[in-house]
Amino acid sequence: MNPLLNRLQPYPFERLRRLFAEVQANPALRPISLGIGEPRHATPPFIQEALMGAFGALAAYPPTAGDPVLRQACAGWLERRYGLKLDPASQILPVNGSREALFALVQTVIDPTVDARGQRPIVVSPNPFYQIYEGAALLAGADTFYAPSVPERNFAIDWDQVPSDVWQRTQLVFVCSPGNPTGAVMPLSEWAKLFELSDRHGFVIASDECYSEIYFRDEPPLGGLEAAAQLGRSDFKRLIAFTSLSKRSNVPGMRSGFVAGDAALIKPFLLYRTYHGSAMSGMVQAASIAAWNDEAHVVDNRALYREKFAQVTPVLQSVLDVRLPDAGFYLWAAVPGGDDTAFARDLYAQYNVTVLPGSFLARESLGRNPGQGRVRMALVAETAECLEAAQRIVQFIQSQPKS
Ligand SMILES: Cc1ncc(COP(=O)(O)O)c(C=O)c1O
Repeated sequence: MNPLLNRLQPYPFERLRRLFAEVQANPALRPISLGIGEPRHATPPFIQEALMGAFGALAAYPPTAGDPVLRQACAGWLERRYGLKLDPASQILPVNGSREALFALVQTVIDPTVDARGQRPIVVSPNPFYQIYEGAALLAGADTFYAPSVPERNFAIDWDQVPSDVWQRTQLVFVCSPGNPTGAVMPLSEWAKLFELSDRHGFVIASDECYSEIYFRDEPPLGGLEAAAQLGRSDFKRLIAFTSLSKRSNVPGMRSGFVAGDAALIKPFLLYRTYHGSAMSGMVQAASIAAWNDEAHVVDNRALYREKFAQVTPVLQSVLDVRLPDAGFYLWAAVPGGDDTAFARDLYAQYNVTVLPGSFLARESLGRNPGQGRVRMALVAETAECLEAAQRIVQFIQSQPKS
């Protein structure tokens, strides 16, 4: 067996299952989960219809590079959303959801050769982070370094805390903006810093932007490619951005997204994907074309999240240190007393509400786990259900003995 598999950590939901195995959820209350970050708003019918109208595509193998019409639809969206003009043939590639693409890109980029001191290459990840970053790095033969999110700076990642000997071994850096779980959007000044570091050390930047269309401020979140263009890097050197329909268009089951950026990365990525067998089904391509070409459903979807967050956040703010994020569909709250696992366990036992302990989403690095003392709440269910969960959380906190 591949020994690198032994380096993988249990997934956060596996750890949650083990935590909850210790207790019995209150049977008098129906279960409400704010645990899994899976979109639950309805899929727009026109996307379903486009999928069902494309059965004919099943009769042929789809090309790994995707249909040119799909790549053009992705390019059109990038132009409308960010004002960017990319070449659909060399700078854009459809992927089967961003998860598989995040994983596969790391396998494409990392040179696992150890250096003269026997040290592996490094992948730098935000902390807390989406667990695929870590698994992808470990299975590619790299080590990981976790750069902390700083609550006092709107949860920005503090790239300055990465030591210079780590930068020297770094081959790839993950950016997650808007962040999961923090919802923070990375500003232009941070992008400038990261590009400068990339030029100095030669690492690739993988920018995970799958929450970019769910935002709460007037300004839509700055994209990585947009930041590069604003800073005069129109060839997107060493930068690749990951975009997904899952959250934008409420089609997590469709598995559709695309990557865009540096043509010098897209080319070997396509080669890797050809061998891996990562072509997107023609039916999914047809539905994806319809989805990327329509913006009205995205505006409606965003309005639903805005309304939900506007109702739920103030309720939780009465008892928790939490605020409206820049974007995404999570609340990232500090819990009273600071024990996130005990909070999640006892809330589940007493009020049958599931939240995810923040420490499960982060690793100890530089002497601390930056997820410790926080919980992630995914507001993906209907507003009424999220509100009921929030009210139960208020009751739970108010019922706790003051320490
Ligand atoms: C930060 C982040 N990136 C990527 C993904 C993967 O999304 P998909 O594969 O559906 O595009 C998720 C899913 O929850 C996520 O939270």
